[in-house]
Amino acid sequence: MKQDMIVILDLGSEENTRLAREIRALGVYSEIHPHDITLQELNALPNVKGIILNGGPNRVVDGVEIDVSKEIYNYEVPVLMADHKGDQPWPSEEKARREAVSNFVLGVCGAQPNWNMENFIADQIELIRRQVGDKKVLLALSGGVDSSVVAALLIKAIGKQLTCVHVNHGLLRKGEPEQVIQVFRNEMEANLIYVDAVDRFLDKLAGVDEPEEKRKIIGAEFIRVFEEEARKLDGIAFLGQGTIYPDIIESGTRTVKAVKSHHNVGGLPEDLDFQLVEPLKMLFKDEVRACGKALGLPDSMVYRQPFPGPGLGVRCLGAITRDRLEAVRESDAILREEFQKAGLEGKVWQYFTVVPDLKSVGVTEGLRTYEWPCILRAVNTVDAMTATVEEVSFPLLQKITQRITHEVKGINRVLYDLTPKPTGTIEWE
Ligand code: XMP
Repeated sequence: MKQDMIVILDLGSEENTRLAREIRALGVYSEIHPHDITLQELNALPNVKGIILNGGPNRVVDGVEIDVSKEIYNYEVPVLMADHKGDQPWPSEEKARREAVSNFVLGVCGAQPNWNMENFIADQIELIRRQVGDKKVLLALSGGVDSSVVAALLIKAIGKQLTCVHVNHGLLRKGEPEQVIQVFRNEMEANLIYVDAVDRFLDKLAGVDEPEEKRKIIGAEFIRVFEEEARKLDGIAFLGQGTIYPDIIESGTRTVKAVKSHHNVGGLPEDLDFQLVEPLKMLFKDEVRACGKALGLPDSMVYRQPFPGPGLGVRCLGAITRDRLEAVRESDAILREEFQKAGLEGKVWQYFTVVPDLKSVGVTEGLRTYEWPCILRAVNTVDAMTATVEEVSFPLLQKITQRITHEVKGINRVLYDLTPKPTGTIEWE
């Protein structure tokens, strides 16, 4: 193992992630674990050089003050009690606190600042090989950042012992399935099963106009398709997952209640009894991107904007039809191309087009048209809870309008959505 590690044990602090990031900023790898970690689990963690017991306002759970087991206080490496509330000698002032952390990590523990992506990848490859042995791993590869980075890491670690399944549900952006095939099958030579489930999904969605119902159908059908593929394969023992650290926080820790149940967690029937391989579960999003870059994934994959699980399905408003879905896909491709040319890619947080199920009168080459409008949306946000509208330059909006109305079948008007969140949500459904 190449990297030293500082373990943070969560004793109800609200500052666990900040502390982990602070330690990583010192160049030392750090992981957060629940307070009731067993000695055995702790012993299994590689290169632990120190432990921080991170106490705080959530330390009392259901009327009882939680604590780590006694053995941990006497563990073989230095242990620091950092209580952000109690009477422990823990500086509240920012600068002094940072110094205390730095002194403990680099001084008392003598941890080497050897946390970098190259070492992280080398360590994860070793851990994955240890966990998987000669068994097989299955991975649902959507082409999103997290699943792509996990795929690249697993391919490096276990090559053909990994099988990736890419389900095309017909609601992906233009060029996405092709890129997944190009990068993973052609370039990285992975076992990749490409499932064309377009008709299946669109048939199931036909006539369904209620947004949550659409989401449910897409989610349930996705699991069904994936499960069918899994049952066709022999000897799969593990399921790879692109879980990242924020997913774990959002799904709730022992001391913090869930914000929302996460899309990636669970979902498969119990008789498909896989163990999980989740090599990114301790990384923050920017670190996942850095890892993807270090593994040689293209920037267009690593720095892509967020894309909802139900895909273009929630941007083709109301009941989805194939022709209107194509209008969403084509207009989205034009918007992305023009933003990229204007240097806005990676600068604007999320941008996309929406096509509602209504028509208006227009005119093209002297002839009356009766077609859909296309709505452009471009927003910036930190956490997606609130969002502001990007001030896109008027000439760029005009250029995009010109292209969409001329190149996309069925569109005769283009509108720009000026609504922040709140009152609008980022998506229209
Ligand atoms: P809203 O529309 O709620 O979106 O302001 C906030 C962020 O979440 C994304 N989003 C989804 N992501 N499944 C997802 O994985 C979904 O059903 C879903 N709905 C919205 C949205 O794109 C935005 O980034």
